[in-house]
Amino acid sequence: MTSTSILITGGCGFIGSNLSLLLKEKYPAYRLVALDNLKRRGSELNIPRLKEAGVEFIHGDIRNPEDLQLDYKFDFIIDAAAEPSVMAGTGPALSYVINTNLNGTINTLELAARTGAKFIFLSTSRVYPISCLEHINYTEGETRFEISGNQSLAGISTRGISEAFPLDKARSVYGTTKLASELIIEEFREFFDVQYVINRCGVIAGPYQMGKVDQGVITLWVARHFWKRDVAYFGYGGTGKQVRDALHILDLFDLVDYELHHFDKVNGCTFNAGGGLASSVSLQELTGICAGITGNKVGASAVMENRKGDIPLYITDNTKITSHTGWQPMRSVNDIITDTFNWIRKNEQQLKPILNA
Ligand SMILES: NC(=O)c1ccc[n+]([C@@H]2O[C@H](COP(=O)([O-])OP(=O)(O)OC[C@H]3O[C@@H](n4cnc5c(N)ncnc54)[C@H](O)[C@@H]3O)[C@@H](O)[C@H]2O)c1
Repeated sequence: MTSTSILITGGCGFIGSNLSLLLKEKYPAYRLVALDNLKRRGSELNIPRLKEAGVEFIHGDIRNPEDLQLDYKFDFIIDAAAEPSVMAGTGPALSYVINTNLNGTINTLELAARTGAKFIFLSTSRVYPISCLEHINYTEGETRFEISGNQSLAGISTRGISEAFPLDKARSVYGTTKLASELIIEEFREFFDVQYVINRCGVIAGPYQMGKVDQGVITLWVARHFWKRDVAYFGYGGTGKQVRDALHILDLFDLVDYELHHFDKVNGCTFNAGGGLASSVSLQELTGICAGITGNKVGASAVMENRKGDIPLYITDNTKITSHTGWQPMRSVNDIITDTFNWIRKNEQQLKPILNA
């Protein structure tokens, strides 16, 4: 009997490496292959961990169809290869963002179509347009912005943002490459029978995220506290009241595990999937929690100017995914910060040049 085989593109990245290792640990008989071009600084640190656990590594680039001419049939492909920074799409890395996040997805879909692999796509909350997110009515609480009960747009309530939220208008090049990928995935379903599920995730965090200024804010915050360096609140009055929900990587694993093993229930679906209101935090609150957990207090400066593409708040409404699958996030922001802190503490020397740069 042949066992399940899974290709994870971006398999040395934060999400890809965690999913590869957690799947291999839970299902030792599965064949797990992680493909990565090692573009993200720190992704190379995961190669020995993957190899030791029995996950195969392929040094490959999804921009090159040749790198995806693999002589093995996969049951599933988890697409976790991307340039995940919103800021990257606003500068010289623009063509890299398009070539990887969109053309690379197409190359990966062609592999799925050729081999009959089912496709799990990690999309983003950034498919929702900036100007619509800016038009959410919110009130200013003591430590955070809060979604008000009175809204004029569809798909927004005090629970957060649902799949019914508008999709018209600009969303950043990063978000557009992801939404365009979603559209192409639907075409591959219609014309090449590729079965898929799309998860639109907000902030995901936890150990092995190589957080940097433009991506991975929770790791960045924990690292700044660990090495006692100041943080900065950008825009929105410089008070750090902007809010995100955060999904623990282990909660994402639980979701992907469910999807792999109940694919018929999610086939053809697009879900918002995030930490939700219960696991949301403002930057100001994040600073307080990090100080409590690390024992280090740092300064917080205010930068009044809004950063292009930034948004005041994003909270996922998980109603659809929970009713389809029963899945809901189980871990809190405190859990995420504690686990990230312990990971940094344990690997301080190795991580210092990357996370304290
Ligand atoms: N981390 C989050 O908060 C978050 C939220 C929503 C969606 N996502 C999505 O999840 C996926 C994984 O994100 P992540 O946080 O693990 O990012 P990451 O940067 O840690 O991992 C991405 C990996 O892809 C690799 N990669 C980049 N370009 C490649 C290419 N052309 N060919 C092969 N490999 C390439 C990188 O080296 C890296 O190891 C992305 O698609 C991202 O858009 C992430």
